[in-house]
Amino acid sequence: MKKGWKKVLAIVGTGLITSLILAGCSSSSKDNSVKKIQDKKTITVGTSADYAPFEFPIVKNGQKKIVGYDMLIAEKIADNLGVKLKIENTEFPSLISELKNNKIDMILAGMVSTKQRRKVVAFSRSYYTVKNVLLVQKKDANTYNTIASLKGKQIGAQQTTTQESIAKQQIKGANVVTESVLTSLTTELSQGKLAGVVVENEIADNYLRQFPNKYAVAKVKLTTPKDQRSVNIAVRKSDKALLKRINKVLIKLQNNGKMAKMLKQAQVLQDKYGK
Ligand code: ARG
Repeated sequence: MKKGWKKVLAIVGTGLITSLILAGCSSSSKDNSVKKIQDKKTITVGTSADYAPFEFPIVKNGQKKIVGYDMLIAEKIADNLGVKLKIENTEFPSLISELKNNKIDMILAGMVSTKQRRKVVAFSRSYYTVKNVLLVQKKDANTYNTIASLKGKQIGAQQTTTQESIAKQQIKGANVVTESVLTSLTTELSQGKLAGVVVENEIADNYLRQFPNKYAVAKVKLTTPKDQRSVNIAVRKSDKALLKRINKVLIKLQNNGKMAKMLKQAQVLQDKYGK
């Protein structure tokens, strides 16, 4: 009799565990972010095309297009999902709210995964590493060697970026000027209205490559905090299936060497069709 009861309890117990496991599975597969995109046949990427070689405008065959390293990666994600890529170009400071308001499905904008941002969006694995430098006019290449040399100077940084906080926290005594579009700041720099602009090394290298007689990188050392070095793709926190898929694409592109080639490809586009 006692043995019999034990058996019944064991069976009921196993059943309970099985249904708990099944319930667990079904709640995670409830995320239909991938299916939604496939039903729409389109994935919309949000970007801020003021950031060559990551994203920038070109004119090809009389048509304006947004291209760049990030857009090449976004195209691979769209291909993997079997959908078309739509590019939504907006100013960097509004990207996260556009994502939260479902205007876009993912952000590729040279965005680093700061602790602050991780509270509101989910980030993919890293696909690039950056550090910060001060872009100056070529004639000042040897002028700004220390933080002290920047005292009272006008220093530019794009609004809401990590460059804004680095400029404000590290270049003490300078006057930090912010704009929502980075290219406005680099224009002001070339006109001598700013002494320097805090940018990431890849962006600075790009200006130097494009305008070797105009710009230089100052010798002053800026520190890039640990959580501001890794560039990632952002999605809504709820879109777990989409994030998984994106990470798979990134791993594939990193393993087959395509990722490294795409940056070069972006530069070729810029040299050929960029303004
Ligand atoms: N990496 C910096 C950040 O995440 C700046 C990114 C700016 N991107 C752009 N497309 N303007 O804050």
